[in-house]
Amino acid sequence: MAEEAKNNGGAVVAAQGHGSADGAAGTAVISSDAVQNPGLPPHRKRVTDLDPKKEKGAERTVYTLFYLSIAGSLGAVLAYMFLPIETGDPMAIRVHTLVVGLGMALAMLAIGIGAVHWGKALMADHESIDERHPVPSDTETREASAEIFKLANEESGFSRRSLVRNSLIGALIAFPLPGITLLRGLAPQDRDPVQLLKHTMWTKGVRLARDPSGVPIKASEVTIGSAFHVIPETLTHEDFAKLSLDERGGSETLLDAKAKAIVLLMRLDQSELNELPERESWSYDGIVAYSKVCTHVGCPVALYEQHTHHLLCPCHQSQFDVSEHAKVVFGPAKRPLPQLPITVDDEGYLVAQSDFHEPVGPSYWERLK
Ligand code: FES
Repeated sequence: MAEEAKNNGGAVVAAQGHGSADGAAGTAVISSDAVQNPGLPPHRKRVTDLDPKKEKGAERTVYTLFYLSIAGSLGAVLAYMFLPIETGDPMAIRVHTLVVGLGMALAMLAIGIGAVHWGKALMADHESIDERHPVPSDTETREASAEIFKLANEESGFSRRSLVRNSLIGALIAFPLPGITLLRGLAPQDRDPVQLLKHTMWTKGVRLARDPSGVPIKASEVTIGSAFHVIPETLTHEDFAKLSLDERGGSETLLDAKAKAIVLLMRLDQSELNELPERESWSYDGIVAYSKVCTHVGCPVALYEQHTHHLLCPCHQSQFDVSEHAKVVFGPAKRPLPQLPITVDDEGYLVAQSDFHEPVGPSYWERLK
């Protein structure tokens, strides 16, 4: 049995007795229509609906904006090419950034304003009701959708207004170009990046020094089981400034040069060292040197476990066996750590025999050998 009552706010309350014959229990509250649907205001035609000249003018404005967007995109690309960033010249950096930024802003803004103006001034502005329908659509609905697309095409004039359409397509194609062009800035401007990756600061006769003090290491100081973090002796602030770009291994900054040249030095019992025949002369009395840059994605391989002779990379747990020419024994790295050939000079200091014989770092670059 149900009762109905109206409360003061006009809500209708329907209450049903517990355990009633129809099995429905509880209370349902049904809101009354307190606010009436105001409907739509009467349609007012726009000037472009009434005056063909105004319509033509609006069309001109839209495609001019799209062309302006193309100009902005191309301007940003040209500014990137012809207003280069000069190292150490803040004004050049400011001008470069400003002009490239203005070009990109114009490109985006003009597309946006053009599209809005197209919609407001030229496309049909009548309102329509789109009923919700179940998913997936049936054939009839799909046909209706196709009809809607056709209608939208007719009403927007996408096919008919070829200048607007083509200029929009042009603007959308040109718009991503500045973003793609900026990627060029990731590679060195005037040198071959592959060559740069192949070379470090190590050359024949450069002493191995402690990181970060730069104190050269004598072979006699390296005891069995010990490990040293090593940099080239020339990698100190005073010496680095005097070196040519080639002597720096192509690196502009000390930090870049260090990131490529860092090395780990360990001494093993000669009987535990299983060297490749072609590398037997690359070690000195059980002392071996390997790049500290992990061949997975380049983290520093900084942990040495002297009992197993394993080097561990803390980033993704790759492990390299120093007694087996630093081959990978665990983890995602795909190739051994590059070995630095070493020997000693007349004073007993450890020196490099040459640069690394392969690119250091992630094995991705190995393919470019
Ligand atoms: S960077 Fe060394 S394991 Fe990933």
